[in-house]
Amino acid sequence: MSELLSLEDVTLSFRGLNALSEVSFALPEGQVAALIGPNGAGKTSLFNVVCGFYRPQRGTVRWRGQDITGTPPHRVARAGIGRSFQNIELFKTLTCLDNLLLGRHLHVRSNLFGAMFATRAWVRDEVAQRRRAEELMDLLDLQAYRDMPVGALPYGVQKLIEVARALAAEPKLLLLDEPAAGMTVEEKDDMMVTLLRLRSELDLTMLVVEHDLRVVSRLAERVLVLDHGTLIADGTPSEVQDDPAVVRAYLGTTRLAEGASGADGPVAEVGA
Ligand SMILES: Nc1ncnc2c1ncn2[C@@H]1O[C@H](COP(=O)(O)OP(=O)(O)O)[C@@H](O)[C@H]1O
Ligand SMILES: [Mg+2]
Repeated sequence: MSELLSLEDVTLSFRGLNALSEVSFALPEGQVAALIGPNGAGKTSLFNVVCGFYRPQRGTVRWRGQDITGTPPHRVARAGIGRSFQNIELFKTLTCLDNLLLGRHLHVRSNLFGAMFATRAWVRDEVAQRRRAEELMDLLDLQAYRDMPVGALPYGVQKLIEVARALAAEPKLLLLDEPAAGMTVEEKDDMMVTLLRLRSELDLTMLVVEHDLRVVSRLAERVLVLDHGTLIADGTPSEVQDDPAVVRAYLGTTRLAEGASGADGPVAEVGA
């Protein structure tokens, strides 16, 4: 497996406080990894650095071996990195379909001239965009919400559309920031099934921020743990949950999931 994304000694600080301290790791193509850590650990900041929203004070971000540190977000997206946001960032008054078409917008090469005169290339792009949006709605069971304004839809459905939007531009790497946060148990199970399906049906590399270790251990083969901006553990789900440094980082925030069977591995629900 070749390296898709790598971070080397990435340090990001806000007014002298390190949100990330010398973070280094590499994601091989095709890997699904989880990123966990207590609130304020730096998970969202790490995504923002990769996506070009923040420029780190030190260190290097590489995409397929090329230095992309500080590259603006639209170019990072075009290079093949898609991300969903911890807080849903959809256009609430637009329909599910329109949000997906906008999500694909950056993938479209033709211009206003093409649109005005409906050139052949423009029509081809338009057709490809709509086909991709329909495919994503099929894959994520969103067809029922196709023509509804997303603001009126249940929270769990909006989170799914947020994932679909991130996929609309056909990324190679998908960064999901707490895709199941705030969901009911049923919604969470639906999201997990969806992510497992994405994993098996799309040729994707994923880095997923998720607190529920039951979900993490079923979805990801690798877990990266951040604490106070430092990467304190990196291993399989079972290695990481037994790691003393990880247990210490979560002391005080760990609570056992009610009635968890433990059949799928860890039963702790961590973080907020
Ligand atoms: N734009 C910002 N300005 C100042 N501090 C920030 C900013 N973004 C994040 N931080 C700080 O960086 C640290 C890590 O935050 P964040 O990456 O959101 O953590 P997590 O996603 O793991 O909960 C926190 O202390 C947070 O307050
Ligand atoms: Mg966060």
